[in-house]
Amino acid sequence: MGALKKKRGGVLFGSLRVMSQKGMKLTVVLVSIFATGVLIFAFGCEQKAGILPSPVASEQIAVSAREALLPELTNDQCVLCHPQQPKTIDASGGKHKYDVGCLDCHIEHPPQGTQAIPECSMCHSDESHYELENCSSCHSDTHAPLDLTLEGEITGPCLTCHPKVGDELKKYPSIHTDMACNECHATTHKKIPDCMECHEKHTEDMKFETCLSCHPVHMPLEITYSDDTPSHYCGACHSEALSLLEANTTKHHDLACVYCHEDKHKAVPPCSACHSEPHSQAMLKKFPECADCHSTAHDLQG
Ligand code: HEC
Ligand code: HEC
Ligand code: HEC
Ligand code: HEC
Ligand code: HEC
Ligand code: HEC
Ligand code: HEC
Ligand code: HEC
Ligand code: HEC
Ligand code: HEC
Ligand code: HEC
Ligand code: HEC
Repeated sequence: MGALKKKRGGVLFGSLRVMSQKGMKLTVVLVSIFATGVLIFAFGCEQKAGILPSPVASEQIAVSAREALLPELTNDQCVLCHPQQPKTIDASGGKHKYDVGCLDCHIEHPPQGTQAIPECSMCHSDESHYELENCSSCHSDTHAPLDLTLEGEITGPCLTCHPKVGDELKKYPSIHTDMACNECHATTHKKIPDCMECHEKHTEDMKFETCLSCHPVHMPLEITYSDDTPSHYCGACHSEALSLLEANTTKHHDLACVYCHEDKHKAVPPCSACHSEPHSQAMLKKFPECADCHSTAHDLQG
């Protein structure tokens, strides 16, 4: 965050001390507002009518009148007229509760000041996240800054804090790359979706963690698997390979798919990866294909 650029008290109407006396409150407030209005109206009329004082002088008079007559407004007085915002800040203000007060943000107050509502950039600058448009589309209530509204399709803003995820999705194109982040991470920040909200399982016994063991979600086509992956997972799509191997009576029958097809989907090992010199060179010169005598790895003839 940038340093707090501005910090000063606000000034409202007079009589705030009186105001805190019960019973008097409403009357005094109304009188105060009325009086302030009259003050401004009066100066305004003088200017329009071209009567003394000049516009510059009248502004100076207004300022000094204000400063002379009106005591500084303090943070604990706001609640007298604005009960809701202090309540919200108290419950969900986060760092806006502890690190700043009402007057750090609301540096002026109507009708005197026009800067009643602060720009976020007054305090938050110099990071890409703080260059975004329309902060309040997500931070919908500044008094509860982390109660986020994440509606519509959001991607770019997420990347201001999660650039690595964006890089990954881009580097490994898949249909997930074309989706908005919050199509999956919906409604609340940090929500992790279950794959089964959108997909069928390959086999009934798979769980969310199982999916992730093969598909890194931001690059789902970079499929890798560990050496304890059960063969029936593969069999969900390769039923012929599975049934041939299950029916086979050689020692290949006992091997898991991933024992031979290691680590990465579609990897196919040569027989020589495991059987370096099974027969004499002379014989292999005559019959170069293992398959000539042994058929395939799945349907091995011993
Ligand atoms: C005596 C009652 C009173 C007190 C005390 C008071 N306000 Fe207000 N405030 C009002 C009224 C009335 C309005 C509406 C004025 C208007 O719309 O012209 C208002 C409006 C506002 C607005 C909205 C301005 C806008 O442009 O929408 C803000 C922000 C605000 N007050 C903040 C504060 C803060 C912060 C404090 C304490 C430092 C405070 N007020 C103390 C009566 C009060
Ligand atoms: C971190 C800055 C910040 C702090 C601290 C803060 N406000 Fe606000 N306040 C805003 C902004 C910005 C708005 C404009 C509406 C919005 O974005 O929530 C606002 C709006 C208001 C309004 C106008 C009504 C409304 O909700 O739109 C009032 C009244 C108000 N604040 C009072 C207070 C009071 C009282 C406190 C202290 C208890 C306070 N604010 C603390 C930034 C702040
Ligand atoms: C007067 C200064 C000030 C203004 C104006 C201000 N903030 Fe902050 N805000 C802070 C400070 C100080 C912190 C705590 C330090 C930090 O996280 O950078 C903070 C923290 C936050 C946080 C994190 C809260 C937490 O509990 O972790 C969010 C979100 C936030 N601000 C959003 C906003 C938005 C959106 C606006 C404009 C509508 C805004 N702020 C205006 C001073 C301000
Ligand atoms: C598309 C939604 C979105 C928009 C737009 C947005 N934010 Fe955020 N903001 C977030 C999310 C999500 C977080 C992370 C909250 C968390 O950590 O729980 C966040 C966190 C923050 C934080 C606190 C943490 C930090 O690392 O800085 C501040 C301050 C903040 N935003 C300020 C702003 C300001 C200022 C703007 C406008 C310039 C803005 N945000 C626009 C979604 C948004
Ligand atoms: C202002 C910075 C900021 C913005 C913007 C932001 N995040 Fe985060 N995000 C964080 C931080 C900080 C964490 C916590 C990181 C940690 O715990 O290691 C986090 C964590 C996460 C997590 C992980 C939760 C977990 O269990 O590990 C997800 C998912 C996430 N964000 C998604 C998003 C999405 C989607 C968006 C856009 C809508 C977004 N974030 C916008 C700062 C941000
Ligand atoms: C919010 C919905 C959603 C969630 C959650 C989701 N996906 Fe997808 N995914 C899709 C859509 C839509 C497609 C494209 C249509 C299809 O193939 O079903 C897709 C496609 C895929 C593809 C094929 C990619 C391609 O480019 O051909 C894989 C693999 C995939 N998802 C795996 C997963 C895994 C694993 C998870 C959980 C970690 C997951 N998905 C979570 C919506 C989702
Ligand atoms: C198809 C659904 C889907 C999409 C689209 C998606 N995510 Fe995720 N994301 C997930 C799932 C599921 C996890 C949990 C993965 C895990 O635990 O390994 C996750 C984890 C995360 C995490 C925490 C772990 C990490 O890798 O840092 C962050 C941060 C995150 N996503 C951000 C994003 C952002 C930013 C986007 C958009 C650019 C995005 N995600 C797009 C489903 C998705
Ligand atoms: C043993 C590894 C493995 C596991 C575990 C796994 N998948 Fe797959 N998945 C694959 C392979 C391999 C493909 C085919 C990729 C191709 O077409 O090149 C695939 C394809 C997909 C596709 C693309 C559409 C299709 O059916 O061809 C989706 C969607 C998908 N998986 C979702 C999931 C989900 C959800 C889970 C968890 C229930 C899951 N996967 C678990 C390996 C796995
Ligand atoms: C979701 C379906 C699915 C799952 C699960 C799956 N595969 Fe595949 N596999 C495919 C598809 C689709 C192809 C591409 C077929 C083609 O190119 O004709 C393929 C291709 C292959 C190939 C390469 C074939 C060739 O001709 O080069 C091998 C080897 C393979 N898979 C092994 C496995 C193993 C081992 C597993 C389990 C760890 C597995 N597959 C899980 C769908 C799947
Ligand atoms: C990833 C390693 C691996 C690959 C690749 C592989 N095998 Fe094997 N093969 C084995 C193992 C392990 C055995 C059992 C050895 C033992 O128990 O003595 C075996 C056994 C055999 C046997 C003896 C079967 C029996 O029941 O006595 C033959 C014949 C054989 N392999 C042929 C092949 C052929 C032909 C190929 C290529 C199409 C091939 N293998 C690919 C690992 C592999
Ligand atoms: C003993 C090692 C070994 C085992 C165990 C094994 N394979 Fe293969 N697989 C191979 C070899 C070697 C090839 C290349 C074709 C050949 O020479 O037999 C192959 C080819 C394939 C192919 C592409 C051609 C075809 O036949 O469809 C797929 C798909 C495949 N295997 C899937 C599987 C699956 C699924 C399993 C588990 C049910 C499995 N494999 C078990 C070694 C093995
Ligand atoms: C001309 C037919 C023929 C060809 C070609 C052939 N084999 Fe064999 N292989 C056999 C016969 C017959 C046996 C069983 C008798 C034996 O142990 O010599 C055998 C046995 C084996 C065994 C088991 C050896 C043991 O000690 O248990 C392996 C492993 C093997 N072959 C691998 C291969 C590989 C790999 C190739 C291709 C490079 C291949 N064979 C080519 C006929 C062949």
